[in-house]
Amino acid sequence: MTAERDLDLVLFGATGFTGSLTASYLAEAVSSDDGPRGLRWGLAGRDLTKLREMRDGLVERWGEALESVELLRADVTDQASLDAVAARTRVVITTVGPYLAYGEPVVRACAEAGTDYVDLTGEPEFVDRMYVRYHEVAQRTGARIVHACGFDSIPHDLGALFAVRQLDANGPVTVRGVVRASGMLSGGTFHSALGQFSRAKQMRSAAAERKRVEPRPEGRRSRAVAGRPTRDAELGYWLVPLPTIDPSIVARSGRALADYGPDFSYSHYAGTKTLRYAVGGAAGLLGLVAAAQIGPLRRWLGAKVPQGEGPDEARRATSWFRVDFIAEGDGRRVHTRVSGGDPGYTETAKMLAEAGLCLSLDDNPPSAGSVTTGVAMGAALTERLQRVGIRFEVL
Ligand SMILES: NC(=O)c1ccc[n+]([C@@H]2O[C@H](COP(=O)([O-])OP(=O)(O)OC[C@H]3O[C@@H](n4cnc5c(N)ncnc54)[C@H](OP(=O)(O)O)[C@@H]3O)[C@@H](O)[C@H]2O)c1
Repeated sequence: MTAERDLDLVLFGATGFTGSLTASYLAEAVSSDDGPRGLRWGLAGRDLTKLREMRDGLVERWGEALESVELLRADVTDQASLDAVAARTRVVITTVGPYLAYGEPVVRACAEAGTDYVDLTGEPEFVDRMYVRYHEVAQRTGARIVHACGFDSIPHDLGALFAVRQLDANGPVTVRGVVRASGMLSGGTFHSALGQFSRAKQMRSAAAERKRVEPRPEGRRSRAVAGRPTRDAELGYWLVPLPTIDPSIVARSGRALADYGPDFSYSHYAGTKTLRYAVGGAAGLLGLVAAAQIGPLRRWLGAKVPQGEGPDEARRATSWFRVDFIAEGDGRRVHTRVSGGDPGYTETAKMLAEAGLCLSLDDNPPSAGSVTTGVAMGAALTERLQRVGIRFEVL
């Protein structure tokens, strides 16, 4: 990576709902005695007045030292403004989504400049298209392009890695991840989900294009397996297969790292206590996917949840998540769990900020190109998250 940068980290999208939570998290972290006090960081966005107001708020809350936080004007419709940001900093964190609509110019700027990149996308089509277009560019420049650094997919990716490391098997390994959570969506997340649901065909074509160009590891295989609805006697939950981006990210870490053994498979579920919730949840999701196919209905639904808004502090304070992993191999079984508070926003802002700090400050294994959190930062990021209250446990 290019060394001469005057900033360690820039947060792009700082004035949005998740962006402002991430800015507050970073401000509190750099202001604490054991935080990265000398961090040279900046806030980027399309409106300098809004950015100034945001920085004033941070100064008022955490002190005058934050007056040195740089403000950078950058707009996704102006590639030169993004290139200028990427040239100044070692890491860009971006919360400017939906990523299918707004993300590519930021990936491009970072891949070309050799600047590390983290985002919050949960949109598989975006991740696959960015792989096809920028993986080789980023490998050449040394940039680490790390997607899905929020609740999608850090607890699942690092949780599966934690589980297989506990199991430490030599033969085939299977892991099932079971998610339980309570929380509410922001406008940005709702719009991103609606957009991706309406593009099933494009999503399949992006995945096929990636498959054609992505090399497979020799002598090892790793795959995401679509499970079936079932009752898990060990966990005591009804399981419903969860078709999010997470299983494919876990399988990618499995392809890249020897920890997962020669033959790894992962299946991903939502867990519910009663069959009624399982059926209701599946029906609700199918209904939303169906509605997203019809343009006017999709726009009507989108207008119900405006972008820039999300759950308030009181709602976030009562939200939680828990992901159980059952890993099996070599005739043994381990049960591990990753858990924390509000998955969508409080913990997502924490995970995203810590991922940015980890790339900027920690000693990680060498990697470049489009890589998962497990590959780029595995152990160091897990330790960071444990220090700030996200639990990784062996049960
Ligand atoms: N996977 C997860 O775990 C997870 C969790 C939370 C969020 N997310 C994702 O994160 C993204 C953001 O969500 P959110 O609720 O924070 O959205 P949001 O409140 O709507 O924020 C979007 C941000 O994008 C900025 N923006 C829009 N157009 C821009 C442009 N042309 N140039 C520069 N900036 C522009 C907005 O700037 P202004 O302030 O100037 O309008 C705002 O800062 C979504 O894609 C969401 O799906 C994922």
